[in-house]
Amino acid sequence: MNKQSRTPIFETLYARSKRRVVSFHTPGHKNAHGIDPRLKSILGKQAGFFDVTVFPEVDSLHDPVSCIKRAQTLMAEAYGVQYSFFLVNGSTVGNQAMLMSACSPGDSIIVSRNAHKSILAGIILAGLWPIWIQPKVDQNLDILFDPTPEQIERAIIQFPEAKAVFVTSPTYNGVTADLVKISEIVHRYGKVLLVDEAHGPHLKFHEDLPISAVEAGADLCVQSTHKILSALSQGSVLHFNSDLVDVNRVRKVISMLQTTSPNYLILASIDMARRQAIFHGERIFERVIKMAEEGRKKINNTRHFFSFTRKEIEARGYDLDVTKLTVNVTKSGFSGKEVDAILAKEYNIQVDAADLFNLIAILGVGTERSDVEQLSRALTEIDHKYHGEAKNWILQIPSLSTEMVMMPREVFLSKKTKRVPLSKAAGQISAQSLTPYPPGIPVLIPGERITQEICDYLQNLSQKELRVSGQETDTLRTVKVVG
Ligand SMILES: Cc1ncc(COP(=O)(O)O)c(C=O)c1O
Repeated sequence: MNKQSRTPIFETLYARSKRRVVSFHTPGHKNAHGIDPRLKSILGKQAGFFDVTVFPEVDSLHDPVSCIKRAQTLMAEAYGVQYSFFLVNGSTVGNQAMLMSACSPGDSIIVSRNAHKSILAGIILAGLWPIWIQPKVDQNLDILFDPTPEQIERAIIQFPEAKAVFVTSPTYNGVTADLVKISEIVHRYGKVLLVDEAHGPHLKFHEDLPISAVEAGADLCVQSTHKILSALSQGSVLHFNSDLVDVNRVRKVISMLQTTSPNYLILASIDMARRQAIFHGERIFERVIKMAEEGRKKINNTRHFFSFTRKEIEARGYDLDVTKLTVNVTKSGFSGKEVDAILAKEYNIQVDAADLFNLIAILGVGTERSDVEQLSRALTEIDHKYHGEAKNWILQIPSLSTEMVMMPREVFLSKKTKRVPLSKAAGQISAQSLTPYPPGIPVLIPGERITQEICDYLQNLSQKELRVSGQETDTLRTVKVVG
């Protein structure tokens, strides 16, 4: 039998559930017996038997020797890496673990500013100096692009002390960086390549999808197995494939950051998602790619909505995971958020994200053709029904090239902070992170010298009464600085 057909965690839990073992272990619901009947009716009784704690039969995520170890080995073989580690707090914990294990306190790391918020948390936890690269703004597609290989090489030459380079690929929009070239550059300079591949656990399973991070040569990468494959929410994996990083340190860090009561349903679902992807991934993604392309075509036949194509992205030097549908709405006279609300209220459709310019529809292993048809039909109908004035909003970010005066960790731990009016903040050191949506990237990071341009940009936003993530106050009239 092909080893990949085994699902050690699921098989162990299933066999155990059949024996109806009397529970004197946590959790307190005791094999679902004590769960509120309404919730139990949703979960099913059997699920309670899968919700166990750590004991020899079901193995320990922190020191795996039996079924979890076997499942992680099968995962590593499936992705062609040295080791894979299961995560029960999503790619969030994986990103933090990558930073904490590849770097030591005081090290510098090159990071694109369009990174997920877990990266700043990881930088604070690990005590690192971030060297930010400004992402490119595309004002035709209204999205941000990862740094180019050339930008990364320039940053390495300018900051030779950097220990590692952190790249997000694919982005939320499904756009992938040229990781083969980036990996060659990063390794030529003896640096470590870390990739946030939260949105790319499926890339490996179909040849018409962009190359995956480990195939391109990443040292470490994290994937949200729950985002596109079939793991339950929070189920993610950190892949290790490096001669530059100590695997035992990775193990220790992951263990430090994760709960001692991992949810075994999540662990089993990661195990099952791997098996499904190995045996059925190609067929499933053949279908999903086809459905997405059909949907894209219909969206691009409307008058006011468009969804960029792989060709358009390739022309800009990147690649596209076509299973993601980014729908630009600016010509409709609505914001992405308004179209999102119409889809939810009138059509019972929920997309993954929306901002001023776009909404993002994520397809996954469970997507049906009728779902995509429903989305494209709804957008076609909205396109006919509503006639707003095309907006000439422009996606822009201020220049973020400013001085990093203190480490974000130092600022985070410092008690010496005060609030000053935005008009007086230029020249001061920021003590907070401020992220307007869009563009969804922080324009201020703790420890950065605040420039006049950033003050003007934020003042402009505050006049528009736009809420900025991290602002801590009702209005954006003041900013927290190191005092
Ligand atoms: C690019 C990126 N990285 C990391 C994460 C965090 O992943 P998770 O939700 O699995 O913790 C997200 C979540 O949306 C993301 O978009």
